[in-house]
Amino acid sequence: MAEDDKKDQQGESGKETGKLMNRRDLLQGLSTVPVLGLFGYALNKQIGYERAQKEALAGPAAPAAKPSEINVALLGQGAQGEVLLSAMLKVPGLRFRAVCDIWTEYNQKRAVNTLKKYNFDVNGYEDYQEMLAKEKDLDAVVIATPDFWHSQHTVDCLKAGLNVYCEKEMSNTLDGARRMVHAARETGKLLQIGHQRRSHPRYIHCFEKIIKEAGLLGRIVTVNGQWNRAVKPDLGWPQRYTIPEDRLEKYGFKSMEQFRNWRWYKGLGGGPIVDLGSHQIDIYNWFLQSQPKGVVASGGTDYYDAATHEWYDTVMAIYDYETSAGRIRAYYQTQTTNGSQGYFENFMGDQGTLLISESEAAYSGMIYRDVSAPPWDSWIQKGYVSVPRVLGPQPEGAEAVLDVRESVSPDEHRIPISFRDPYHKPHLENFFRAIRGTATLNCPAEVGYETAVTVLKVNEAVEANTRLTFSPDEFSV
Ligand SMILES: NC(=O)c1ccc[n+]([C@@H]2O[C@H](COP(=O)([O-])OP(=O)(O)OC[C@H]3O[C@@H](n4cnc5c(N)ncnc54)[C@H](O)[C@@H]3O)[C@@H](O)[C@H]2O)c1
Repeated sequence: MAEDDKKDQQGESGKETGKLMNRRDLLQGLSTVPVLGLFGYALNKQIGYERAQKEALAGPAAPAAKPSEINVALLGQGAQGEVLLSAMLKVPGLRFRAVCDIWTEYNQKRAVNTLKKYNFDVNGYEDYQEMLAKEKDLDAVVIATPDFWHSQHTVDCLKAGLNVYCEKEMSNTLDGARRMVHAARETGKLLQIGHQRRSHPRYIHCFEKIIKEAGLLGRIVTVNGQWNRAVKPDLGWPQRYTIPEDRLEKYGFKSMEQFRNWRWYKGLGGGPIVDLGSHQIDIYNWFLQSQPKGVVASGGTDYYDAATHEWYDTVMAIYDYETSAGRIRAYYQTQTTNGSQGYFENFMGDQGTLLISESEAAYSGMIYRDVSAPPWDSWIQKGYVSVPRVLGPQPEGAEAVLDVRESVSPDEHRIPISFRDPYHKPHLENFFRAIRGTATLNCPAEVGYETAVTVLKVNEAVEANTRLTFSPDEFSV
């Protein structure tokens, strides 16, 4: 612990209590409060979104005092680990201490070198157990290893006293996900699952303001969403950095090819429906404030070689929800052979349609007012939606050109929330604020678990080739 931290804590805590607290005690004291089991979860649900929305909409508060530093370890520094690290380098108050990655000669080395350039004194590890044994002053770990490692890594890090940010999919098995929820509750440490849209200012605005407060969609009746990606070759690697076979085997990989393309393999990942779909199906549950009753799905490895693509390259799923407002059918597709129209979620109500995407490239946020809806002037004045652009024929000519099968085109409004930060930064900030006790988690273990239950069932439904049902108690641990 740095001398200035010691001084801070002696001044603030030591004087009053007559005993010294180290920084980890202090951070832990703050962070255990919002995670005490279901009570903490209910609190998260009620006030977490509000706080997050305030944080997100108001932007960072004026810097009052330099925050006490959080000692961070990175576990898994592949493609996503690198994305998270570059976002974290923009977050003040973090002190990077250790990098663990089994690809010591490549990904680990790159991350250590990057951090050294930023003057962090970091140690590199191949084995996370060794890291946990040697790095005694860690407050938090950010895990971006392949899905099948998430459960063990998270549980062991929580038990070692660390707060954990773990990438989605929470786990490739429900058993693994359940163990993570239990470990978070038992240890009282924070566990944030990396569904980063939960902290995205535009998504928070759409849910809190547009759907919940203003009710601009009316009664939501259907949802559709997709993640379409163009054909891509399998991932390769620089041959001189091939990992020795015994090391690959020790960590659960049969070959270098499998190590690089783990997502496609049963037992390691969940295929594109889990990899990509989990982000967006998570939004279905969030915005509908509900979990589905059933799902039908069709999918297969239709394009790629099934020997190396065990999970389906194409999946189309339809969930049915029963909400207090009525039944909702929600379609989702992921395919990996044509990137047309990219990725988005589209919520359709009897008064309006919300088209939203995390991507800034397209569909970053549009809302369409159906002709039958009351005027939105007051919501425009409040800044909830932009002034409209009228689509299609102008009203005076509309009747003349429309035939009986058609509806008058809706007005198109934009969602006036611009966002220029790295996509993952607000979610990471939410995690670090929660450690400091100034926020509640936007995606705690229980929320990640609900999403895992919802998403993993699609692969089962493909296999079963029939509608599978969810019982309400399936979603809780
Ligand atoms: N939130 C998002 O938008 C998003 C985007 C991409 C990936 N992800 C998630 O991030 C995670 C990582 O995905 P990726 O694309 O970076 O994969 P990747 O294969 O590029 O990286 C995984 C890294 O983990 C390391 N690793 C593997 N097993 C390990 C072990 N036992 N101990 C330590 N290190 C180990 C590998 O060497 C590699 O560097 C996945 O869970 C994925 O679903 C999330």
